[in-house]
Amino acid sequence: MLIRPEQSGDEQAIHDLTQTAFATMPFSDGTEGPIIDALRKDGDLTLSLVAVEGDRIVGHIAFSPVTIDGRHDGWFGLGPISVAPELQRRGIGKALIAAGLDTLRERGAAGCALIGDPGYYSRVGFVSNGALQYGDLDRSLVQYIVFHGAEPRGRLKFAPGFGPQ
Ligand SMILES: CC(C)(COP(=O)(O)OP(=O)(O)OC[C@H]1O[C@@H](n2cnc3c(N)ncnc32)[C@H](O)[C@@H]1OP(=O)(O)O)[C@@H](O)C(=O)NCCC(=O)NCCS
Repeated sequence: MLIRPEQSGDEQAIHDLTQTAFATMPFSDGTEGPIIDALRKDGDLTLSLVAVEGDRIVGHIAFSPVTIDGRHDGWFGLGPISVAPELQRRGIGKALIAAGLDTLRERGAAGCALIGDPGYYSRVGFVSNGALQYGDLDRSLVQYIVFHGAEPRGRLKFAPGFGPQ
């Protein structure tokens, strides 16, 4: 498996993979593929990595700018992330997350935040502190990694491509 940045021509495969991976997820509203398209169109797809086996895209991860209490301050959001259903639990997701976080860190980002299952994301180093909030959501689902600087406090907002927040 190879991990590389998305290239021109990957857009439809990324969209389709994302729709397929989220299709059976109870929390999904089926908007994850269109969210990636919107982020790209808005210039907010800061980092988009694909995992490739042969000539097939089998995994994808997106990162985009976020604000905390209205300020960007070098923070990015992780997601959506998808792995082809028949290839899950083989480490592809973990490898995409590690590659993405390494790149953000190298570029001087302050940190990365996400909303997701702590059972999964704590395995790749994400934590929650109760001070980073997203609407009225259970704060244990609002997780982050600090690369440098202070612990995040305040209201997290994702890029407009994610829709009204
Ligand atoms: C989430 C997703 C990207 C993970 O990709 P993956 O390639 O299956 O994950 P990995 O194989 O790298 O798993 C990493 C670790 O998490 C564990 N894990 C995988 N899925 C898990 C789950 N649903 N709950 C808890 N742990 C899980 C693995 O066992 C592994 O742990 P280990 O290293 O201790 O063995 C993939 O399952 C997916 O596409 N899901 C559908 C879309 C989705 O839900 N995206 C995330 C929304 S927040």
